[in-house]
Amino acid sequence: MSKPDIILIGAGGHAHSCIDVIEQQGQYHIAGLVGMPQEMHEKHLGFSVIATDDDLPQLTKEYNYALVSLGQILSPDSRIRLYQQAVKLGFQLPVIIAPTAYVSRHATLGAGTIVMHGSIVNAGVRVGDNCIINNRSLLEHDSTVEDHSHISTGTILNGGVTIGKGSFVGSGTVIKEGVKIGKNCVIGMGLSVRSNQTDHSRYTGKSSS
Ligand SMILES: CC(C)(COP(=O)(O)OP(=O)(O)OC[C@H]1O[C@@H](n2cnc3c(N)ncnc32)[C@H](O)[C@@H]1OP(=O)(O)O)[C@@H](O)C(=O)NCCC(=O)NCCS
Repeated sequence: MSKPDIILIGAGGHAHSCIDVIEQQGQYHIAGLVGMPQEMHEKHLGFSVIATDDDLPQLTKEYNYALVSLGQILSPDSRIRLYQQAVKLGFQLPVIIAPTAYVSRHATLGAGTIVMHGSIVNAGVRVGDNCIINNRSLLEHDSTVEDHSHISTGTILNGGVTIGKGSFVGSGTVIKEGVKIGKNCVIGMGLSVRSNQTDHSRYTGKSSS
């Protein structure tokens, strides 16, 4: 049986990582990417930018599946807008799990979330919609990652950590067990976070930030 087509919304560097995971997972055929007008017809790892955001309503006639493949560091707004637009238009946003990742049967993942190479999502973890669980991250038992968050490469969330909606946790950062990170936070890379962070915090390990 032929694989269903999927389109990737976002044609930057993160899209390359998504392509690799989707290819390895093997469940979908990548029909193309959706990018900015100036990116039209660009090739990314052999896949073309076939349309822009404005064409999404038209694309629903041809394709059922979509994934938001735009990256996210300082603001989740673009990923949220694209996700909401795709859902409203009737696309299905599947969960994508790399074959090299481990996801406990006692964990839950929301629509449009991608779990990338070598990640571990352990028992009791809840991950919301449209999240990026990036390569080699570890989500320990009973942690929660709310919708539209990005847990970036090599990050460790220890047991019972909560990451609020629309937040970003930088590469290699370790969060102490039970710590709560608020909504729309940006937590820098390479840090250890031992205390709760309020909504909209930017944490770089300095008291003034
Ligand atoms: C937190 C972050 C977003 C801040 O970026 P920014 O707004 O451009 O801020 P700046 O780089 O100008 O840094 C501001 C200050 O915080 C410090 N700082 C920023 N990030 C820091 C970090 N992770 N650890 C320690 N100090 C940090 C800077 O040294 C600077 O200090 P100064 O004012 O004394 O010079 C960025 O530094 C970061 O960590 N990005 C994450 C990268 C990443 O994980 N990418 C993975 C994608 S998969």
